[in-house]
Amino acid sequence: MARPKNDTFLRALLRQPVDYTPVWLMRQAGRYLPEYCETRKRAGSFLQLCKNKELATEVTLQPLARYNLDAAILFSDILTVPDAMGLGLYFSEGEGPKFERPLSEEWAIRNLAVPDPFGPLGYVMDAVSEIRKALDGSVPLIGFTGSPFTLACYMVEGGSSSDYRKIKTMMYSRPDLLHHILDITAQSVTAYLNAQIESGAQAVMIFDSWGGVLSHDAYQEFSLHYMRQILSGLIRERDGEKVPAIVFTKGGGLWLESIADSGCDAVGLDWTVNIGQARARVGDKVALQGNLDPSILFGTPETVASEAKKVLDAYGHGTGHVFNLGHGISQFTSPDNVTTLVNTVHEHSRQYHK
Ligand code: CP3
Repeated sequence: MARPKNDTFLRALLRQPVDYTPVWLMRQAGRYLPEYCETRKRAGSFLQLCKNKELATEVTLQPLARYNLDAAILFSDILTVPDAMGLGLYFSEGEGPKFERPLSEEWAIRNLAVPDPFGPLGYVMDAVSEIRKALDGSVPLIGFTGSPFTLACYMVEGGSSSDYRKIKTMMYSRPDLLHHILDITAQSVTAYLNAQIESGAQAVMIFDSWGGVLSHDAYQEFSLHYMRQILSGLIRERDGEKVPAIVFTKGGGLWLESIADSGCDAVGLDWTVNIGQARARVGDKVALQGNLDPSILFGTPETVASEAKKVLDAYGHGTGHVFNLGHGISQFTSPDNVTTLVNTVHEHSRQYHK
């Protein structure tokens, strides 16, 4: 399989020369787009949208039809894996994701098993192949997973949490049980990402959305350790092309050096760090992805443009930067501001690649 026609995103991740800084946005297919809301209504629910490969392909391509984005990301969710492990995922209106059977009893934790990625998760692989076909070599396709710790947060808490009390109680009273959950989950998502790569994903990203709630030591032991385990088991080259891996710990700015040392090709940054200072800290070890505060998209087009330029100016000359937000795009974002953002990144960054 040849590289896509626009491979700027893959080149930047591998720190090869590019003509401009590539850009994509976390959650780029979502509720801020009226066409997404329309397709979601037709699907009946978010989960049915994920499980229908034609509709999942349709929504994956929607942001690419509107904007000059440099990558597509599989339309799915990180919680498909615990769902396939038997926890029973559902979405209740206004409350986000929930599990029917959260993990609390020791017997249930001991019974956890690695799901076959081509079995109960086969619908994700079907979507990956279908999307890759539909992209027809235009831009690369990103596959993804949640980190074991972030998935364990949902599996133990049973849904979103404000204080992570249940998982932290387990961490500090039965660490052996939490380590067992994390180990099985790490094995599961390694197989899941490799299946996505075999099905056509050209880069992969690990979303560690909640690693930042941990202490310095707990982050190393309960989150980063398992991401290293995944990275060491990933397919890194397919059909002669490198498959770069991105690690994103939201709130992980203080641990940048150790994340850069985990075996990944790129580190995702949230908006709390200065990307120029982050670059100085990681040197040429990894590429960086980020890191505009998504709230800036609530501002005027002039502010969106000037703030995007600040991020590009802070990174400075040379390759190794993939522009993105510091977290997912909000459903309340004006789609027109995204046009301003993408065009500003492409135009303003050319001077840094001469
Ligand atoms: O980036 C993309 O466009 C790809 C699709 C994608 C979704 N979720 C679609 C989605 C990706 C990469 C995710 C990852 C994800 N899911 C994460 C990690 C990234 C992050 O944001 O920290 C997490 C923690 C989840 C779990 C999850 N799924 C939550 C908390 C929610 C509710 C969010 C909300 O705003 O209500 C979801 C649902 C979800 N996943 C939606 C989308 C587009 C909204 C669903 C809808 O249409 O109602």
